[in-house]
Amino acid sequence: MLRQTVITALVVLQTAASVQSRKTCTVVAGGSNETDDAPAIINAFKDCGHGGRVVFQPTTYYVNSVMNITWLDDVKIDLYGKLLWSNDIPYWLNNSLDVGYQNQSTAFILGGDKVHLNGHGNGTLDGNGDFWYAWIRQQPNTSNYPGRPHAITFNGLRNSVVEGLNFLRSQMWTMSIIYSHYVELNDIFINNTGNTVSSSNTDGADTIRSSHIKFDNWTVYNGDDSISIKANSTDISITNSKFFNGLGIALGSIGQLNDQYETIERVRVDNVQFHNTLHAFYVKTWTDDQNGYPPNGGGGGLGYAADLELTNLETTSIRGAALASESPGVFQFPLGQVSDLITPDAPET
Ligand SMILES: *[C@@H]1O[C@H](CO)[C@@H](O)[C@H](O)[C@H]1NC(C)=O
Ligand SMILES: *[C@@H]1O[C@H](CO)[C@@H](O)[C@H](O)[C@H]1NC(C)=O
Ligand SMILES: *[C@@H]1O[C@H](CO)[C@@H](O)[C@H](O)[C@H]1NC(C)=O
Ligand SMILES: *[C@@H]1O[C@H](CO)[C@@H](O)[C@H](O)[C@H]1NC(C)=O
Ligand SMILES: *[C@@H]1O[C@H](CO)[C@@H](O)[C@H](O)[C@H]1NC(C)=O
Ligand SMILES: *[C@@H]1O[C@H](CO)[C@@H](O)[C@H](O)[C@H]1NC(C)=O
Ligand SMILES: *[C@@H]1O[C@H](CO)[C@@H](O)[C@H](O)[C@H]1NC(C)=O
Ligand SMILES: *[C@@H]1O[C@H](CO)[C@@H](O)[C@H](O)[C@H]1NC(C)=O
Ligand SMILES: *[C@@H]1O[C@H](CO)[C@@H](O)[C@H](O)[C@H]1NC(C)=O
Repeated sequence: MLRQTVITALVVLQTAASVQSRKTCTVVAGGSNETDDAPAIINAFKDCGHGGRVVFQPTTYYVNSVMNITWLDDVKIDLYGKLLWSNDIPYWLNNSLDVGYQNQSTAFILGGDKVHLNGHGNGTLDGNGDFWYAWIRQQPNTSNYPGRPHAITFNGLRNSVVEGLNFLRSQMWTMSIIYSHYVELNDIFINNTGNTVSSSNTDGADTIRSSHIKFDNWTVYNGDDSISIKANSTDISITNSKFFNGLGIALGSIGQLNDQYETIERVRVDNVQFHNTLHAFYVKTWTDDQNGYPPNGGGGGLGYAADLELTNLETTSIRGAALASESPGVFQFPLGQVSDLITPDAPET
C-alpha cells in the first residue's frame, strides 16, 4: 500500500517536471484575414520546435501564405483553435509547395521526429474550400488541377501522433503523407462537403513512400477517395472508421509512373463502415502503354499489391460494387484475405 503511494507520487512529479521543462510558444493571432498569421506560426516552430511546445489558442488564425515546417524534433503541438486558409486562388496556384509525387502541391508541409499534434477534438484546419469547389467548376480541367493545394502534407514525419483534429472543406486532397514512418492518426473528423457546390478531388488522406501508418477512428465526408494507399506504402492499417459519400478506400494508382516500380504491401482494414460510397475497397491500375503525364495521365509502370487483409467491412446504400478493380484481369479479388464483408444492399455486379 505504502509502496504504491510512493510510486504514484513519483510518476506525478516526473510528468509535471517534463511539462514544465518544455519551452512553450503560444502563437498570437493577428485577428483578421488582412494580416497573415503564417510568419508568426513559423516563428513559433523555430523557437519551440526542438524539445518544446507550440500552443494555438481557441481562436481563428488566418493563413495567407505557404508554410514549410520540416525541422521538428520532440515537440508537442496543442491546437485549440482554427487555422483558416485564404481564398486568394491566384496566390496559391503560383506558390503552393511541391509534394514530390504526381506533380501534386500543398499549402502546408509539416515534418520531423517525435511530433505530437493534438487538436483535443476542437482543433480545426479549414481550407476555405467552398471557393475552390466553385472555381474548379469553371476550369476546362477539373481533375488534379496544377497548383491546387492539399490542405496539409506530412513529409518526413516519424514516430509521431496526430489526433483529435477536424478538417473542414480542404482545398483539394486533405492530407498527403509522404516519406513518413511510424505515424498514428487517431480521432480525425473530415467534412469536405461543399456549402454551395459539391466538392471534387477532396481525398481524405493519401499515403506515398510511407510505412507503419495507422488510421484509427476516422470519419470522412468527401467527394473522392476516402483514403488512398499509393506507391510504396507498406504496413498501413485503417480501423474503426466511417466513410460517407466518397469512393471508398482506394489502392493505387499502381503503374501510373512510366518505368517506375511501385509496391503496396501489408494493408489491414478492420471494422470500417461505408455509407453511400461508390465502393468499399477498389484497386486503380494503369495499362502498359503510357498515355500523357501524371496526375491525370500516365501508365507504363510496374508494380504489385500484396498481403491485404479486409475484415468487418459494412456498407449501407453503396453505389457500386463493394470490391472492385479498374482493370479486370490485372487485379482480381481476393488479392489477400477478405472476410466478414457485410453488404446488405450492394447492387449485383
Ligand atoms: C477575408 O474575409 C472577407 C470576409 O469574410 C472575405 O470577403 C475575403 O474574401 C477574405 N479574404 C481572403 C484573402 O481570404
Ligand atoms: C504569378 O506568377 C506570375 C509569374 O511569375 C506573376 O506575374 C503574377 O503576378 C503572379 N501572381 C500572383 C497572384 O502571385
Ligand atoms: C521545405 O524545406 C526544406 C528544408 O527545410 C527543403 O529541403 C524543401 O525543399 C522545402 N520544400 C519545398 C517544396 O520548398
Ligand atoms: C509533371 O508533368 C510534366 C508535364 O506537364 C511531366 O513532364 C513530368 O514528368 C511530370 N512529373 C511527374 C513527377 O509526374
Ligand atoms: C472545445 O470547445 C468547446 C466549445 O467551445 C469547449 O466547451 C471545450 O472546453 C473545448 N475543449 C477543449 C479541450 O478545449
Ligand atoms: C487540360 O486538358 C486538355 C485536354 O484534356 C489538355 O490538352 C491540357 O494539357 C490540360 N491542361 C492542363 C493544365 O492540365
Ligand atoms: C472518435 O473520434 C470522434 C471525432 O471524430 C470523437 O468524438 C470520438 O470520441 C472518438 N471515439 C473514440 C472511441 O475515441
Ligand atoms: C458537413 O458539412 C456540410 C456543409 O456545411 C453540412 O451541411 C453537414 O451537416 C456537415 N456534416 C457533418 C456530419 O458535420
Ligand atoms: C518504390 O520502391 C522501389 C524499390 O525501392 C523503387 O525502385 C521505386 O522507384 C519506388 N517507386 C516510387 C514511385 O517511389
